[in-house]
Amino acid sequence: MSCPQKSTRRFFPLTVEKVPDEEEKLLQAKGFLGYTNLVRTNPSLVPLRPAYADLAESYYNFDFRSDDTVLLTFPKSGTTWLSEALWAIRNLNQLDQADEADIDERVFFLDSDFLQPAPNDVDTPAMKKFSAACPEGRVEDGVTLQMAAAEKGPRILKSHLQLELLNPDLLDTCKVVYMARNPKDVCVSYFHHCKKNTKKIFQGEFSDFAEAFMGNQLLFAPYWDHVRQVWLRRGHENLHFMFFEHMKRDVFGELKRLATFLEADLSDEDVRRVADHCSFGRMQEREQRQSQGRGPLYGVPGFFHKGAIGGWKDVASQDLNDRFDNWIIDNNCGIDIPFTYE
Ligand code: A3P
Repeated sequence: MSCPQKSTRRFFPLTVEKVPDEEEKLLQAKGFLGYTNLVRTNPSLVPLRPAYADLAESYYNFDFRSDDTVLLTFPKSGTTWLSEALWAIRNLNQLDQADEADIDERVFFLDSDFLQPAPNDVDTPAMKKFSAACPEGRVEDGVTLQMAAAEKGPRILKSHLQLELLNPDLLDTCKVVYMARNPKDVCVSYFHHCKKNTKKIFQGEFSDFAEAFMGNQLLFAPYWDHVRQVWLRRGHENLHFMFFEHMKRDVFGELKRLATFLEADLSDEDVRRVADHCSFGRMQEREQRQSQGRGPLYGVPGFFHKGAIGGWKDVASQDLNDRFDNWIIDNNCGIDIPFTYE
């Protein structure tokens, strides 16, 4: 493998600015201890980690290829679940390899380059792999972005970035799968993710977290822009729009439809194998084994929290629920995305 040469770059039509200190201080006072030095796009106001500022143009220019499969999600919408399912559909004859390698070694998580920028340390196994794949590569240009570009075979790639921050040719180039989850359960799942994170990203109350969610202050927000940008393109032949709740209710049917979209020739028995491979129990068990060596997935002990629908009811007060419902009505009005909450 060698790193491809940069082609002519498209102009990135947004700017990236620092989130104002006073906004960040207010968030920190509410318990967002891990929200420091954030940047955001302008005018779309997507808050992101600081390393994004220097990589924004590279994300916008990342070249997708016709044999790629791309998964897009808002965080906590079942990304890891669907990544495992996509990988299994593409690797039915070697499912046991999932025990050998983390999901992010099998699926390129493009956002890693700003969520967890690689330390500039040549001695780690990851950096050795990078140096071997991209001898001319520079860490600051994004390790995953360059590793993915250097991969010659069909790739599975995933990102939480909104469609508008990625290459405008994406949908016309390859198959794209989007998974949405109802905003109440996303919010609760995001809360647990930040609260349990070993980096102590959030240490406050659920009500403050939910206010920040509705205020579009969490990383990758605004939630509605994220879902809406894809929902409005759902008729595109290269796009397959899925719901977490549908997967929960009928995983066999959803995986069968997904396989058909991917033009993967799977028998019913194959689909059952994929469903079993990516079942909550199997994924949780795999994670328990793998975390013994490298620590918890994404720094979150108990990453596979419940994987259920309706967890919101256990944590939200009636008042918060009413405000959240109004927020949903205001934002879903006119686009009417058919979310289910139970
Ligand atoms: P909960 O926090 O509600 O348990 P993401 O991968 O986008 O971060 O999403 C994580 C959410 O998906 C978590 O939800 C997690 O438990 C759930 N999840 C992951 N794998 C799952 C599976 N196989 N079946 C059901 N839910 C799953």
